[in-house]
Amino acid sequence: MDPALTDVLEEQLARWGGDELILHHDAPSGAWIILALHSSRLGPPTGGTRFKAYARLADAVTDALRLSEGMTRKYAVAGFERGGGKAVIHAPAELDAGERQALLRRYGTLLRELGGRFYTGPDVGTSPTDMDVIAETGAPYVFARTPAAGGAGSSGPYTALSVFAGIRAACAHVFGTDDLSGRRVVVQGVGSVGAGLVERLVDAGADVRFADLDAGVVHDLERRTGARSLDPGAVLAHPCDVLAPCALGGVLDARTIPTLRCRIVAGGANNPLATEGDELRLAERGIFYVPDYAINIGGAMAITGMEALGWTEAEATERVTRSAEQAVRRILELSDREGVSTEEAARRLAEERLAG
Ligand code: NAI
Ligand code: PHE
Repeated sequence: MDPALTDVLEEQLARWGGDELILHHDAPSGAWIILALHSSRLGPPTGGTRFKAYARLADAVTDALRLSEGMTRKYAVAGFERGGGKAVIHAPAELDAGERQALLRRYGTLLRELGGRFYTGPDVGTSPTDMDVIAETGAPYVFARTPAAGGAGSSGPYTALSVFAGIRAACAHVFGTDDLSGRRVVVQGVGSVGAGLVERLVDAGADVRFADLDAGVVHDLERRTGARSLDPGAVLAHPCDVLAPCALGGVLDARTIPTLRCRIVAGGANNPLATEGDELRLAERGIFYVPDYAINIGGAMAITGMEALGWTEAEATERVTRSAEQAVRRILELSDREGVSTEEAARRLAEERLAG
């Protein structure tokens, strides 16, 4: 066995404290399917499926564990009755489209066999079209299929909505107004979440700059919104009022935090802090940090609400906005009252709810 994997299993599982970890090897493709079912305390474990070729299996397991815990906290802070879980498909980079589809169908069969112990939706590397394929064998445990297949479609726009509401609430606290006109906001990553966020910010009159590694995506968004792009290597250090990480996790660490030139960090990316100490590094620099899981619940909440609870689009929009605004307010109150970091305050709010 990969020695790094042994370390992950021994050290991280004890710290993780989740319910169940399933490591499934898919022999036909050589992929590993990792199901981290963190908590069913508030409801059935529900989380996205990330599809990615990691350097090592140990890295994929680490990601699944951290992301599943984030899902538990996300639902707990919002008081939404779902549990935390995440799936990671660690697949060889060279799979062709046919092999990938066959793998997704086998993954669907696995979900079906689990019989509701895990519900899923899209995440980085998967789309509503992929959910259609997974649901061929994995229904009814798959959210966010395409509208043509009877689903509510992409979760990204609703996640963008909750992040937008969270940014406004954070600005109200730091700048005394939630009016975003002229507010300088930098967005890292303009995929499903980041692009929707840029659109909303531009509509609200903010001065938006963004970056992405995909030149096609950058060009398209510049053309559609008029917002200008930045070099991806320079995006974190670009001067702004609000930095919104919306790409991958772990971007804020001991090396990057000293280079930031923002007042607020509030974005959609799951786990943007590389380590626990990074929340203190941000606080020491006087940067107001809004924990990711407090404001990026929009997609999971809206899609689950519309597909499983019968919400209308208007209801989903209203609930997602209110949830993110309330979360930021409650975190602020607790952090002020107890003199703890915003991350610690958010953690306590989640724990209170899970204990109650
Ligand atoms: P996506 O895959 O559609 O978009 C991510 C984008 O980030 C891609 O366009 C990619 O090229 C870009 N990117 C990657 N590394 C970059 C870098 N170093 N600099 C600049 N751009 C970079 O993914 P999606 O769905 O937009 O998710 C983004 C983040 O939000 C992820 O961390 C995800 O876990 C999180 N999230 C997504 C939700 C959803 O509803 N889609 C819900 C909650 C969280
Ligand atoms: N990617 C979503 C998240 O991280 C997961 C999700 C999407 C769950 C849609 C359910 C439905 O929050």
